[in-house]
Amino acid sequence: MAFFQMASDTNPLSLSPNFILPENHRPHLSHVSTLDSIPIIDLNDHDTNNLVQKLSQASEAYGFFQIINHGVPEELCNRMMTASTQFFKLAPEEKEQYFTTDQTKKVKLFNYFLKIQGQEKVNMWSETFSHPWHPTDFLPENPPQYRVVFVEYAKEIGLGLAKDCLQKKLGENPTLRAQANYYPPCPDPELTLGLAVHTDPNALTVLRQTEGVTGLQVIKDSKWVGVDPLPNAFVINLGDQIQVLSNGRYKSVHHRAVTNIIQPRLSIAMFYGPNKDTLIGPIEDLIDEEHPPFYGRYHYAEFLEEFYRQEGTRRLVKEVFELQRN
Ligand code: OGA
Ligand code: NI
Repeated sequence: MAFFQMASDTNPLSLSPNFILPENHRPHLSHVSTLDSIPIIDLNDHDTNNLVQKLSQASEAYGFFQIINHGVPEELCNRMMTASTQFFKLAPEEKEQYFTTDQTKKVKLFNYFLKIQGQEKVNMWSETFSHPWHPTDFLPENPPQYRVVFVEYAKEIGLGLAKDCLQKKLGENPTLRAQANYYPPCPDPELTLGLAVHTDPNALTVLRQTEGVTGLQVIKDSKWVGVDPLPNAFVINLGDQIQVLSNGRYKSVHHRAVTNIIQPRLSIAMFYGPNKDTLIGPIEDLIDEEHPPFYGRYHYAEFLEEFYRQEGTRRLVKEVFELQRN
């Protein structure tokens, strides 16, 4: 049974067994640290050197930060969040056409799961809808404004990334995908997860989340730290390709999403990755005798192949590309 057929139930009363995680995979919410939080970076800082330094420090120490005063109109972000919410609220019969377990599909609605030894797959308490930024003719016809709003949103996010000159390092024609995660209220947030612990396989993620509802958590010094939504902010996190390119200096940090009993939560992640043919490896300038390369070279397509091969496990993908050292 697909989870999306349940999500429209306004008040699910009990968790069916296929959502219940074994004890050692549960979120243990009382252990989440309230003492730390990820850095907040104001992009409207005219001192460019200072800004670059802050971004660099945040990328080294946390691999995650929130940006404010980014210039993307709040009203557009709100329209995108509304269109996406309406998509998840479509009738199951209409959503069904997008549902697939084939990860190679361009447009896909699916449920994440964990494969746990000696047990059936355990479903995550979420639905995920993923599609490329372009072309847009495969995007849903309903809700009716979805395509138009998405095109406008992708353009704004894309312009911001182009300004940061990422293209130079990642090659022409980057892999651009959007992923919306919808987390309905959950009867027992201690027994399940919205999104399992993972790192993002791409280069950079720009995430918008429902204001006033927490759920995203990141690892800092071996503790889980919540990423509380700030008004009109984006959460930025670095993916595995940046960790490899920077030879481990910038971190692709483990994160997860937890659920709550009362409010639905939506996040829209805009993923920016290299082209599949791009050769990735530590940047030459960072390598010398004292700084030997941690990773070998590979085409991004090989990395993605390994990523999908490890589906449902606690993925250790970039570890496969580490060089052996003595
Ligand atoms: C993701 C992700 C977090 C969230 O989509 O990769 O980490 O808050 N999302 O939904
Ligand atoms: Ni992620």
